[in-house]
Amino acid sequence: MKKLLIAGIVGLMAVTVSVRAGDPKSQYEQSCAKCHGADGKGDTKMGKKLGARDYTDAKVQADMKEDAAFKAIKEGLKDADGKSLMKAAADISDDDIKALVTYMRTFKQ
Ligand code: HEC
Repeated sequence: MKKLLIAGIVGLMAVTVSVRAGDPKSQYEQSCAKCHGADGKGDTKMGKKLGARDYTDAKVQADMKEDAAFKAIKEGLKDADGKSLMKAAADISDDDIKALVTYMRTFKQ
């Protein structure tokens, strides 16, 4: 019984570590690509509907400010009428958010 318990704890730790070390690319592809597109172009059904910008565009990148991007991911984003564009990302650490912003910078062409 004790052995089982220890194995369980070790198993849990392994999961936690792999999630924490989760690379931004897979996180992005899981949670963000359905709107922003795997390539950042926002060329998806949802992205077009909601007006996701083209993050391969240098102008869009220049427009994306570090703190605003961080806030949008952490707290979500609404349009001027208060309609939700993007939900707040749940269960994500500040470091992961920063890594996601950094990852989105790589879309720039
Ligand atoms: C339901 C669709 C949807 C999902 C899912 C989504 N977004 Fe967005 N996101 C938008 C829309 C729409 C905008 C506003 C237009 C734009 O800036 O592209 C936006 C804007 C942003 C911005 C720009 C904020 C700014 O002020 O410039 C960032 C950064 C961003 N999203 C990152 C992410 C990340 C990272 C994820 C995944 C954790 C994600 N988004 C998931 C739709 C989505």
